[in-house]
Amino acid sequence: MDEFRYHDGALMCEQVSAHEVARAVGTPCYVYSAATLRQHYTRLAEAFRPLNPLICYSVKCCSNLSILRLLTSLGAGMDVVSGGELYRAFKAGCDPRKCVYAGVGKSEPEIRLALEQGIGLFNIESEMEFENIARIAREMQVHTRAALRVNPDVDPKTHRYTTTGKRESKFGVDLERAEAFFNAYGRDAFVSLTGLHLHIGSPVYSTGPYIESVQKALRLIDDLALRGFHIDTLDLGGGFGADYESDQSPLAAQYAEAIVPILQDRVSRGLQIILEPGRTIAANAGILLTRVEYVKQSGDRHFVICDAGMNTLLRPSHYGSFHFVWPANPGVALTPPRRSRELVLPGLARTEVVGPLCETGDFLAEDRMLPPLHRGDLVAIFTAGAYGMAMASRYNSHPLPTEVLVDGHSMQVIRTRERYEDLVVHESAAQ
Ligand code: LLP
Repeated sequence: MDEFRYHDGALMCEQVSAHEVARAVGTPCYVYSAATLRQHYTRLAEAFRPLNPLICYSVKCCSNLSILRLLTSLGAGMDVVSGGELYRAFKAGCDPRKCVYAGVGKSEPEIRLALEQGIGLFNIESEMEFENIARIAREMQVHTRAALRVNPDVDPKTHRYTTTGKRESKFGVDLERAEAFFNAYGRDAFVSLTGLHLHIGSPVYSTGPYIESVQKALRLIDDLALRGFHIDTLDLGGGFGADYESDQSPLAAQYAEAIVPILQDRVSRGLQIILEPGRTIAANAGILLTRVEYVKQSGDRHFVICDAGMNTLLRPSHYGSFHFVWPANPGVALTPPRRSRELVLPGLARTEVVGPLCETGDFLAEDRMLPPLHRGDLVAIFTAGAYGMAMASRYNSHPLPTEVLVDGHSMQVIRTRERYEDLVVHESAAQ
């Protein structure tokens, strides 16, 4: 699962205690474990080795340069969705040919940047987008490769905000439009359309939706072949789960066990597979550390008010997501035996863990059984490495938090805490 564990009643990230990190850099603070990032990447790569896939880490989930560099050094490519993410990937030293670029609204400057750098693959989301990329490529006299993103109309059984592969989603084109798409654009002189891209949703906790969507994609590949269009690349997107509770997600090996057999024969005949994992690599590799500012009672509800809120970690309030929350120094008797919403330990009390913002929707955990918490206590929000810092904002003019990367005994600040000056640096005074 990850390298965040309690020893003698205190939370450790690898060999460094949470208390030590918070004392050194303050709170709120994201803490990442390098060993967990490496482990998750390596396990995925090993599980899918029979398909020899290009693994493009999904930059959107946790985009700190140091983390991109670490994954690049392991051989990862990058899945990007904006010019900003392309910039980060290049800065991190990722080979542009290992970059795949999705997103429904690619702008002209973004497309030009991608073409100038020679990225590996555009994942195309609409007819109009293809025409735009083809026009720009022709103007620049640059050749590029593209995959058509198709909606296999499979239910990934996840939150409606992160369900993408069903009909009528804003992403990709419906499966039955794919053939017409290839007829119209499959022989372009500058953009060679020889791939298919799928991304059905996130997180997907069962393997069935993958099996179903891959099978649909393979049928489409065969239909296209009959019409003279050769597909050499199949990008399966991301969506593999993470352990928000202990052992919640299938292992990389279990996803692979379901997917590899369907594709092995195609791969041996030359099909290139791409994976775009984000959450499954980064989520468990990060926690958010926050301090209790105040506790108070309102009616029957007991509030613990922290220095992190929906501005720091949006997922609980935006998606109603569960993150395991526990004090960083609970002592041995209250060390959690596992991460679960149903822990039974002596002395727990029903608690609302909320942030400092002026919104009732600003919470980190609702109605949660927790050990008693006091002003100044350090609290850990687990499985926060994916879509945590990446979705943080400066709402209520709170500067963005620090990010720290722990590797064994060492700890490095990989993003310094913003100062108040940073909040206004791009604002100019009106005359
Ligand atoms: N590929 C594409 C085309 C995607 O749109 C995404 C995520 C991924 C790959 C990576 O998916 P992952 O492996 O991380 O599940 N903010 C939401 C998740 C949004 C996912 C957006 N797309 C959350 O906090 O749950």
